Amino acid sequence: MAAAESLRAPIILSLAESHFEFFDFELLIAAVERAAERSTVPVAIHLDHGSSLESAVRAINLGCTGVMVDASSHPLDENIARTREVVEMARGCGVPVEGELGYVPGVEGEDAARHPGELVYTTVEEAQRYVAETGVDFLAVSIGTVHGRMQGEPQLDFQRLADIDHALSDVPLVIHGGTGLSEAQYRRLIENGVAKINYYTALADAAGQRILANGREHPTAGYTTQVNGVADAIQNEAERCIELWGSADRADKLLKKCRPWQPVEHLIVYNVQGLDEAGVTRIMADGRRILGTIPGVRRVFTGAAVGNESSYRYSWLVRFCDAAVIDSYRDDPRHRDFADNRFRPYADGRISIDYKQIVYGSEKS
Ligand code: 13P
Repeated sequence: MAAAESLRAPIILSLAESHFEFFDFELLIAAVERAAERSTVPVAIHLDHGSSLESAVRAINLGCTGVMVDASSHPLDENIARTREVVEMARGCGVPVEGELGYVPGVEGEDAARHPGELVYTTVEEAQRYVAETGVDFLAVSIGTVHGRMQGEPQLDFQRLADIDHALSDVPLVIHGGTGLSEAQYRRLIENGVAKINYYTALADAAGQRILANGREHPTAGYTTQVNGVADAIQNEAERCIELWGSADRADKLLKKCRPWQPVEHLIVYNVQGLDEAGVTRIMADGRRILGTIPGVRRVFTGAAVGNESSYRYSWLVRFCDAAVIDSYRDDPRHRDFADNRFRPYADGRISIDYKQIVYGSEKS
């Protein structure tokens, strides 16, 4: 974020599902979201290499504004089917989806030469079919990069990239395994339709090298000394990439075209007939559990009026990540079942209104 701010660059912050064993996704994304909110450059928060529909729903509900579904290790038909169900769900949340076709082997943060599995190139014909049948908003292609630390300069198939870009002219392309390419290679990627480069290993290595240097210099020092300068090391490397990839000074122009992330509060105030207090509490608990897992639902607040003056005794406040969720939530079978069978029979005469947040970002200069 510091690099993006200092160079006025739009930025995508990705959290990779394969890293969830190293941090608590729910806790970290709250901090990432706060960093995005207080930033003055456009920021997207993206789930990287999501493995399933469930993980995509969870990511959206926790705050991701874009998701990747990576079913690229499956045969084409299955990749298409798995990707399509994520796209259908995410459309209902106003969230774009990245798919991957072909296989970019390797593990972020490891030596690329030790990668498991063989590289599978994306073909033009499969890319056309995949995009047409899944409706993905951006496509990760395999043209010779490998996740992880490179030795030597990889061979990239630029002709293949140009052909895919030509065939899919309105779909931005994504390159995974961005670490370790030459400056000329980055330029040719971007000239041939690449709009997003995934870059992890070099940033992690910048952090690791700083820690090792601190350890050599202060072998007995504690944690804060050992990690001193890590943020600066990552920022320097991120700034190098932002300058090189041409996204510096693009934030303000892009902001004019951006649709801000705009949550909606679905508010219901109601009274209850034919239920005691314990029954009301039970319905609220069921509602929080059931409605909270519907795609695009960020939070379910259930409330009781403070004091006796209000003519409405209880409330629901259901936060949607986007106005698109108003329709998809209404039609979701879990919501229909809960509303028709558990809630509405007891809550006659309720008021229900959807409010969009209109001051989002206005605190910024
Ligand atoms: P590198 O770690 O090789 O930069 O790749 C990152 C990546 O593609 C994450 O999805």
